[in-house]
Parts: sequence; C-alpha cells; structure tokens
Amino acid sequence: MEALAPVSGRLYVDGTLGLGGHTEAILERSAPDGRVVAFEWDEEALRRSGERLQKFGERLVVVRRNFAELRIGLSELGVGQIDGLLLDIGVSSMQLDQASQRGFSFQRDEPLDMRMDNRRPLTARAILATASESELADIFFYYGEERQARPIAAAIAAARHKEDIATTGQLVALVAGAVPRRFHPKNIHVATKVFQALHIAVNGELENLATAIDDAVPLLAEGARLAVISFHSLEDRIVKRKFLANEGLAVVTRKPVLASAEETAANPRARSARLRVAERRN
Ligand SMILES: C[S@@+](CC[C@H](N)C(=O)[O-])C[C@H]1O[C@@H](n2cnc3c(N)ncnc32)[C@H](O)[C@@H]1O
Repeated sequence: MEALAPVSGRLYVDGTLGLGGHTEAILERSAPDGRVVAFEWDEEALRRSGERLQKFGERLVVVRRNFAELRIGLSELGVGQIDGLLLDIGVSSMQLDQASQRGFSFQRDEPLDMRMDNRRPLTARAILATASESELADIFFYYGEERQARPIAAAIAAARHKEDIATTGQLVALVAGAVPRRFHPKNIHVATKVFQALHIAVNGELENLATAIDDAVPLLAEGARLAVISFHSLEDRIVKRKFLANEGLAVVTRKPVLASAEETAANPRARSARLRVAERRN
C-alpha cells in the first residue's frame, strides 16, 4: 500500500485478486471514489472474494482473465490509463491448501492437475504423459532449476509405459526414487522443484509475468507505480530485468523488499516473498 499510495478518484489494477486482500486494502485507502479493476482466473477464488468485496459496489470490476491479457481486458472496459498495478503472483494459499484436490502440493496425495484456471488446456498429468523425455528434463531444469532433471525425466519416461502417472503420490515416489540419496536436498522436499516446474509449465507463469509487465508500461499514467510480489528467484529475475530494461520505467526499489521477521513469524509463507516497485516516467 505504501508503494501504490492509493488515493480517491484514481483507478488501480489488481492483476491477482485471489481472496481479495489487496483489492480490499486499495479500495479502503482510496475511499470514497477510488476504483479497482481486478483480474483473476481461478473460479473458486472469484467465488470466495465476490462475497467479501460486494460492499464496494461499482468501485470494483472483476474480470475472469489471465493478467497477461491486461491490455485487451482493460480496453474492453474502455480503460486507457491506470494509476497503479499490483501483481502478487504465483499459487495462492487457498490453491495450495484447500481440499481443491488440484495437486499443487506434494504433501497430500491428489490428482495431478495444477491448473489455476480450469479452462487451461493442459494438466500436469497431461504434460507428464505427452512431453518427450527431453522436454520433461528441460521443464524441470529451466522452471525448477532442478539439477537432477535428467534422471527424473528418465524415470518418468520409463514408468509411464507401465502406468498412467495420475497422482501427486506417484510423482513424489518417482522423483524420490530417481534422485540418488546423497543428492536429496537437506532443507526442502526432494520433489519441491519438480512441483514448481510443473505448475509453472501448466500455467505459463513466466510468460504471463513477462507479458504483463511489458503491456502494463504504456498503460500507466506518468508517476504511476507497478508493484510485483514474487515468490522464487526465476520470477524475481524476470521482474528485475524487465524493470531495468524498460525505458518507460524508473526503479523505485533497488533491492527487493522482504517481509519483516514479525510478518514471517505470523505468516511463514511470506518468507520467500520479494516485492519490487517501479514508476512510470515520461
Ligand atoms: C498469491 S495469490 C494473490 C492473493 C491476493 N493478493 C489476496 O490478497 O488474496 C495469486 C492469485 O493470482 C491468481 N493468478 C495467478 N496467475 C494469474 C494470471 N496469470 N491471471 C490471473 N490470475 C492469476 C491465482 O489464481 C491466485 O488466486
């Protein structure tokens, strides 16, 4: 909120509505006449945030779209300029935790879906069934920075001849078996990076982020801010590079802003969050 400094009479975009925490904060701070257009592609999140945000009436417009479609989404609403954009990217706590059974987490045995938007064409299960062994290795290596990408891809390619890899439990067992014991990481689960890689591939997360930043710049009013919260180094690198490379942006945060010790104590997931802010210059 400090970065966006919302005020009445202005229009802000929340690219990642989720359960509506940020949108609600923007609308409260920009009372009585600030407005928000919020993007969200997860049906369940839309349903849940709808009730919470009803009280704002016409000050809030919600669109079920990929935030990478920011330009078209806003132009359909007749919006040509915005006074701030917030992206709080990645998978939400709701998607990770809930009994949505979407298979984002390796901690429960669930179907391997991983789509945030159930209209997307490919599930994680479909990727595991159809990508070639070398494509799988690339996914694990580039989207997961997984050093054991090749043996893991080989184990999947061998296993899928015998059985359909349909659940998180099957995938965890395959990864654990493919990585030699001495290479099992100490601080994270052995399947963490494979799961990250798969949900990035399923949802096109890195492409969406890069497109949204590029497309947002010409829409921002002079002095308007673009704030992005990311959760791992691949995303943070994209944000950092895009901010520096774009002539229309001035970087506000030289270093990413991290959550305080107090905040991470209350919400452990905040420990990997990194906020970067840039400002539109003319
Ligand atoms: C970390 S959560 C955001 C939480 C939100 N700031 C709140 O206050 O509740 C990310 C949300 O963005 C959504 N999301 C992720 N990528 C998206 C995309 N490309 N287009 C639209 N929504 C997206 C997810 O479905 C999820 O609900």
